[in-house]
Amino acid sequence: MQLAHRRCLLTGASGGIGRAVARELSRRNVDLVLSGRDERALVELATELRLAGGRVDVICGDLLSPSGPRDIVAHTLACDPILDMVVNCAGAIHFGNFETAPDDALDRIWRTNVLAPMRLTQAVLPALRRRREALIVNIGSIFGSIGFPCFATYSASKFALRGFSEALRRELDGSGVQLLYFAPRYTRTAFNAGAVERMARAVKMHEDSPESVALQLAQAIEQRAKERYLGWPEKFFVRFNSLFPRLVDGALIKQAAQMRPYALQSLPES
Ligand SMILES: NC(=O)c1ccc[n+]([C@@H]2O[C@H](COP(=O)([O-])OP(=O)(O)OC[C@H]3O[C@@H](n4cnc5c(N)ncnc54)[C@H](OP(=O)(O)O)[C@@H]3O)[C@@H](O)[C@H]2O)c1
Repeated sequence: MQLAHRRCLLTGASGGIGRAVARELSRRNVDLVLSGRDERALVELATELRLAGGRVDVICGDLLSPSGPRDIVAHTLACDPILDMVVNCAGAIHFGNFETAPDDALDRIWRTNVLAPMRLTQAVLPALRRRREALIVNIGSIFGSIGFPCFATYSASKFALRGFSEALRRELDGSGVQLLYFAPRYTRTAFNAGAVERMARAVKMHEDSPESVALQLAQAIEQRAKERYLGWPEKFFVRFNSLFPRLVDGALIKQAAQMRPYALQSLPES
């Protein structure tokens, strides 16, 4: 899809990857609707982008409130009924032993990472269908293809998002609405602050900058990719795990032993 002069709703725009995506898309002349809960961060980003010549609206909203996704879409379309793209980037994580994960973490992660993008997509589809060509981008994770110990809830939510993306992409075939499932690996943002960051350093996890993730997302959109997994050897392990999961078990069980002390340091809500 050619990006210039498209209008895009971006959730999670106040976060590390979201901000970088907003800058990358704005540089490519995409008109943006920035969404998140942190109004100050969104207004600051919008000001920066407008000063550089971008066209930007800000719509604050909580994706966890029952009408949150629908309200965000309604406000977006009230500003301008034309919408070409939605990027479901908002996300939540839990790192720690599953056995002791608090119930509210399970609930928050499932609703943020699975139900919110599904509800938002449902609300936005009639507007996208009115365009000759439109796009839904779901930001998944490498952990949505490789079940990672100490990230059981997060992994499960991203597996679900990947399944939803694959099914909906097939369902929408021929409608003009395309779907891209985009899966970054570990990325330097506040998402991983604290115990996750210390663990990632200890196990020498490969990492990307949010800017590199945003650039690869823009390229994947322009190339009309249906799915994209970032990083080498991560993209290889995605395939390998789907074919030979028992062989991957060994490596990850070994890594889990290194991860466990950090998982115990993790606060329940992190
Ligand atoms: N960082 C990584 O290592 C990594 C790797 C693979 C995939 N990902 C995925 O990339 C996406 C972005 O991650 P990130 O690193 O940018 O995380 P981040 O910096 O923590 O940002 C998370 C974003 O989600 C928004 N959000 C969370 N709960 C929300 C809610 N209830 N309602 C509205 N917005 C909500 C936050 O908005 P407010 O701050 O305004 O509340 C923020 O903009 C996530 O889907 C994540 O799973 C990240």
